[in-house]
Amino acid sequence: MKTIIEPFRIKSVEPIRMTTREERADLLKAAKYNLFKLHSDDVIIDLLTDSGTSAMSAAQWGAVMTGDESYAGAPSFYRFEAAVRDLMDFKHIIPTHQGRAAEHLLFNLIAKPGHIIPSNTHFDTTRGNIEAAGAEAVDLPVAEGKVPSLDHPFKGNMDLEALEALLREKRDSVPAVMMTITNNAGGGQPASLENIRAAAQIAQHYRKPFFIDGCRFAENAWFIKLREPGQQDRSIKAIIHDIFEVADGMTMSAKKDAFANIGGWLALRDDALAERARTLLIQTEGFPTYGGLAGRDLDAIAQGLSEIIDEDYLRYRVRTNAYIAEKLDAMGVPVVKPAGGHAVFVDARAFLPHIPPLEYPGQALACALYEMGGIRGCEIGTVMFGRKPDGSEEPARMDLVRLAMPRRVYTQSHADYIVEVFEELAASKDHLRGLKIVKEPPMMRHFTSEFEPL
Ligand code: F0G
Repeated sequence: MKTIIEPFRIKSVEPIRMTTREERADLLKAAKYNLFKLHSDDVIIDLLTDSGTSAMSAAQWGAVMTGDESYAGAPSFYRFEAAVRDLMDFKHIIPTHQGRAAEHLLFNLIAKPGHIIPSNTHFDTTRGNIEAAGAEAVDLPVAEGKVPSLDHPFKGNMDLEALEALLREKRDSVPAVMMTITNNAGGGQPASLENIRAAAQIAQHYRKPFFIDGCRFAENAWFIKLREPGQQDRSIKAIIHDIFEVADGMTMSAKKDAFANIGGWLALRDDALAERARTLLIQTEGFPTYGGLAGRDLDAIAQGLSEIIDEDYLRYRVRTNAYIAEKLDAMGVPVVKPAGGHAVFVDARAFLPHIPPLEYPGQALACALYEMGGIRGCEIGTVMFGRKPDGSEEPARMDLVRLAMPRRVYTQSHADYIVEVFEELAASKDHLRGLKIVKEPPMMRHFTSEFEPL
């Protein structure tokens, strides 16, 4: 069959509240043109994030009921630990309440002022945690990853020459090498197994630990299976095993590729580092067998991990985004190519060339999508990355709008609706205006900044 259908039936539904364009214009104004400030029941299709927004399966809800809430040594923890270890064989698996808590633990322990931590591209919370420790977060994506319109199978790859040069020149300043799979901020693009292995090898040569931010590991593994020569006949599990085998540790948000609504973990091989991490965990998150989570959350993660590696699911998952991206591309809306694993990224800078980067074309497009069709996306551009730690501002490398697909939540008719909203928007896009920021916090400003249209 040609159509890749949703490989699930819907047992339980949530209503969507319909709104009019006039209502949304008022709601947008009241939210100071920051979509994070909207009430989610004023949103028709919520593509703000794929994080924590997955539809859990009947089996996950069943597992929730068997969650054990003992403070220490709950069976839920051991089920969680076994499920993680089944995919990623790390010695120490430390639960956290979400991914950024794992990052906080890790960088609190390994990053100091003057340090530099390279990655293919750090996600914003990773960057925030590195900078909060006084270190510098450096992005080293491959050149192909910087050109939105360029089709390339592994745009999430690390620039290995740049990594080698950094380590050669500043060896003593680099405490660790990081790699994000898939590369979220760079368009949800995967890294190849070959590139992950090579980056790990360079790190090892300079005796630096190699950490993977594995939030979307299953999507990345699926892309490896689809696109990397020699990987087609291998199981997703075998590919995942190979990815993590070369890492000294990982940070994880279970809100992505574990189908959970909350949770995460820090995994390590080093005993001494793990002991320090657990001590800090007790201080900030909770006892090491629950790490800020309820036992039922740990069980939801354990079950979710067994579902995320299902190839029928992964085929459908990646196809949803490709379907939307192909239709947008066909109507001339510039999208990051190929479509990412968890999202479609629209190149707002190219779509709205009359809005300069410092007037935030991504924010302007995200606001217009909401006003026009009640779709909530997320700016990933100059608003998110343009403010430097010293308070100065410069355009980000790209101005994108991310339409992140919650897992197993929306159907193909929702996808068709999204395409239709773009059709209407494309007809009037030259009238869209940029914005200015009227209030902003010192870091991670996209969450709370307030804007006014220019
Ligand atoms: N790393 C990556 C690559 C992420 O995408 C995220 C979260 C995190 C770390 C942090 O995990 O949210 O559990 O604390 N990304 C979400 C997003 C928020 O919308 O892309 P968290």
